[in-house]
Amino acid sequence: MSTGKEKKKIDLMKELLLKNSRLFRCPSCEQELALSRSNSLYCAKGHNFDLARQGYVNLLLKQEKGGYDKQLYAARKVISDSGFFDPMRKAISKLIWEIGEEEDWSRASILDAGCGEGSHLAWICQDLKAKEKRFADLWGVGIDLSKEGIRAAAKAYPNLIWCVADLTKLPLQNEQFDIVLNILSPANYGEFKRVLKDHGVLLKILPTANYLIELREILFKGTDRELYENDSVKKLFANSFQLVKEQQIHYKVVLKEENLEHLIKMTPLTWNADQEKIRAIINSGLKSITVAFDLLVGKK
Ligand SMILES: C[S@@+](CC[C@H](N)C(=O)[O-])C[C@H]1O[C@@H](n2cnc3c(N)ncnc32)[C@H](O)[C@@H]1O
Repeated sequence: MSTGKEKKKIDLMKELLLKNSRLFRCPSCEQELALSRSNSLYCAKGHNFDLARQGYVNLLLKQEKGGYDKQLYAARKVISDSGFFDPMRKAISKLIWEIGEEEDWSRASILDAGCGEGSHLAWICQDLKAKEKRFADLWGVGIDLSKEGIRAAAKAYPNLIWCVADLTKLPLQNEQFDIVLNILSPANYGEFKRVLKDHGVLLKILPTANYLIELREILFKGTDRELYENDSVKKLFANSFQLVKEQQIHYKVVLKEENLEHLIKMTPLTWNADQEKIRAIINSGLKSITVAFDLLVGKK
C-alpha cells in the first residue's frame, strides 16, 4: 500500500530526473530514456521502466540474486552511521574539493558505482555542499545490482538518484559525470570511462591486507585467505586509467560492544564462515578494529 511519504519520494525522484533529463539510456537498446507522465522511463523503441514508489528505478533486464541481502545492508548502515567509514569519506571529499578547485565546477556530478545502501555517496555530497557554495548544485547518482541496497538508499536519502543496475553495462548516457566513485565494489573500467566527462576522475577505494585483519586472523588462520593482497586490482586500474594519485588510509576504530555483531554481518568476509569461528569472534571481546584502504585516483 502506498503512503503519503512514499508518494513524496517518487515526486522527489521525478524532480531530480527532470533536472537531469538526459541521464539514463535504455539497458535493452541503448536509446535515450525519457520521463513519462505515468511515472516511468521509456525509450523510442517502447521499452518501459516504472519508477518505484520508494523513489528509485530498476533498470535491470534480469533480476540478480547476489549474496548481499537486506540484513547485510542494514548492518552496514549501522556501522556506517557509527562513523566507521568517516576518515575514508573525508579523504574522498577532500580530494573532490581539491580537484573541483582546479575545474570550473558550477554543477558537479558524481556517480557511485556499486553504492550498496548509499551512505557513502550521501555523506560525501552533504559534506561538499556544506563546505562550499560552489558545490550547491552538486548532484549524485547511486547504482547497485542489489534491489535491497538501492531500496535502503532511496529510503534514507531521497535527495539523490538511485537505480538498480549492472555496472558492467551502465544504463547511463556517455560523458555525464565529473567523478565516478567505486568503493569496495567490482569495477568495469570501460564503462567508467564511457560515462566520465573528458576531464573526469575515477576514485577507487580498495581494501589492503590489514583491512579487518582482526576478523581475518580468526576466520582464515592457516588458509590461503589469511593473507590478502590487492596488487592485481591495482595493476588493472593502472592499465585502464592514468593513475594520478595513490593514498593510504589507515586507522583504528573503537568498537562499541553492540556493534560487533553488526560488523560481522556487514562484511562478505563472514559469508559461509563456520558458526564456531563466528562465536570465536564474538567471544574474543574485540575492542577495536583496523581499517586500511588504498585510494586510487585515475584520469581517462
Ligand atoms: C562490499 S559491497 C560495497 C558497497 C558500498 N560501496 C559500501 O562500501 O558500503 C559491494 C557492492 O557491489 C555491488 N555489486 C557487485 N557487483 C555489481 C555489479 N555488477 N553492478 C553493480 N553493483 C554490483 C553489490 O551488490 C554490493 O552492494
